[in-house]
Amino acid sequence: MSAPETKGKIFDGKVLRRILKQVAPYRRRFLWTGVLVVLLAGLSWVRPYLIRVALDDHIAVGDGPGLLRIFLMVVGLIVVEALLQFWQTYWANWVAQSVTLDLRAALFRHVTRFRLKYFDQTPVGQLVTRHISDIDGIADVFSNGLLNAVGDILRLVVVIGAMLWIDPVLTIIVLLPIPVLLVATRIFQKAIKTAFVSVRNEVARINVFVQEHVTGMNIIQAFGREAAEREKFAVHNAAHRAANIRSIWAFSIFFPVVEMLSATSVALLLWLGVDGVANGDLTLGVVLQFILYVFMLYRPIRQLADRFNVLQMGIVNANRVFHLLDLDERMPEPSGASAPSNSEPLKGHIVFEDVWFAYTDEDWVLKGVSFEVQAGQRVAFVGATGAGKSSIINLLSRLYEFQKGRITIDGDDIRTIPLDRLRASIGVVLQDVFLFTGSLKDNITLYDPNIPHERVEEAVDAVGVRDLVDQLPGGLAYDVKERGVMLSTGQRQLIAFVRAYAQQPGILILDEATSSIDPESEQLIQAATERLTQGRTSVLVAHRLSTIRDADRILCLDAGEVVEQGTHDELLAAKGAYHRLFELQFDA
Ligand SMILES: Nc1ncnc2c1ncn2[C@@H]1O[C@H](COP(=O)(O)OP(=O)(O)OP(=O)(O)O)[C@@H](O)[C@H]1O
Ligand SMILES: [Mg+2]
Repeated sequence: MSAPETKGKIFDGKVLRRILKQVAPYRRRFLWTGVLVVLLAGLSWVRPYLIRVALDDHIAVGDGPGLLRIFLMVVGLIVVEALLQFWQTYWANWVAQSVTLDLRAALFRHVTRFRLKYFDQTPVGQLVTRHISDIDGIADVFSNGLLNAVGDILRLVVVIGAMLWIDPVLTIIVLLPIPVLLVATRIFQKAIKTAFVSVRNEVARINVFVQEHVTGMNIIQAFGREAAEREKFAVHNAAHRAANIRSIWAFSIFFPVVEMLSATSVALLLWLGVDGVANGDLTLGVVLQFILYVFMLYRPIRQLADRFNVLQMGIVNANRVFHLLDLDERMPEPSGASAPSNSEPLKGHIVFEDVWFAYTDEDWVLKGVSFEVQAGQRVAFVGATGAGKSSIINLLSRLYEFQKGRITIDGDDIRTIPLDRLRASIGVVLQDVFLFTGSLKDNITLYDPNIPHERVEEAVDAVGVRDLVDQLPGGLAYDVKERGVMLSTGQRQLIAFVRAYAQQPGILILDEATSSIDPESEQLIQAATERLTQGRTSVLVAHRLSTIRDADRILCLDAGEVVEQGTHDELLAAKGAYHRLFELQFDA
């Protein structure tokens, strides 16, 4: 995995500051939430105080009206506290959700600019985890972690202050178990942190596993690997449970310990209090007030451990998310100076000059490929599987970067043409057509509002797939991921033709599907190819040589090198590589 998985110190100032930066647009609300937190903590001493007053000054002397007054004050206080609490919770979560929204949008925007090479090397599940649970963890810092931790600490200070003010000696005695509690909390916090980090890591692993196996389910089932894969899954699943149980274990020890310690404090208090009340040093009200304070003390201490974990997990998650945000995996764009400023569509005079290309290191996939396509010409590539045909196409739309040589379109180095101009000029029909969740029409326009509905209808007719569309329930509105009619490889490629036609590109790139296609689709594809390439610069990769008989030029590719080129007739006459391919296909 490329991102740091477990790093993250609690007070990693740099990361914490960057997390806080996310809140900048919501500064006002966040500050108000902070004010509410301070107010709530500041009020925490009042209720026990009022109860003492009720007990000592009114109940003890049978002062009915006075007691009612105090009672009303307590009710009023409870209402005020409840209101403050409501707004604090509401706003804290509002800020947290807004930060989630922004971060997710920023991350997705960032990642969609990455070059394909990055996605070749990154498990999808990992990116899903970054977008979903990691960002949720950061949001928790705002909804649950930071301000509440501050509130808890303030509450401690206020309550201890109030106790010291009333009776310092009693306070110190009551606080005797606190150092033990602090040590216990520290141990707990460490245990829980390790457990949480492994829980998150296991969740990420399960994400990756499920995603890959759902995608590859056909292979798993076809090869009867279900049982074996289930066993592998069981391992991840068990690791996830074990990690969770470790955290539960820590909680189940820690909470009783806290209970015991708070009981000890109360016991100490009662023991001293009884004496104090008996010899008149203390009143019953004071003892009760102290007991209430003791409960108020232990709760924030217990919660603090939890809050620190939320903070810590937020930092661990933020580390991963920021790591991804800082990653610059974009395709290098021409800098302002070298970029030709015009944004006209390219006409498509394509020249490859001694192009060398490898997906990784020096595993050359293309070894010095040179060729030229005049604007408006139809050029076709043929060759064995793995020869590098699709790779040439990938370079043309700059989905990947080549290492050596030069590619020019209309005389401009392809690296100096802005990516959006380049890609707007090129229509592609890829070898494997991916359809997104949504209607057929959305898959054709890819939600481009500049493509009017009429153009889509026109494209459907032009490509010759009217019958196919009409037979789908709902026609163009048909949801392609809906259960029921699935589209075959051939049909999907036809949809890609419609997509390319609707775009009306200057240059057409067509990578014919390898897998066998039913004769009907094949005929449709052939006809569509002819119509689409008419008068347009076209680069075709053909697996069925019948498709390219009348191409202006055919290039034979073998292991990354152009070994032959010419027209169909010339190449057949030459009795070389093309002739062999031709015989293989038509004699079989
Ligand atoms: N994304 C990738 N990362 C690494 N290597 C790749 C990648 N895509 C293709 N290759 C490798 O590059 C070589 C050429 O692949 P390419 O897809 O260009 O072949 P092709 O001629 O289109 O084959 P086919 O007829 O099967 O479509 C192959 O050896 C392949 O293993
Ligand atoms: Mg290919």
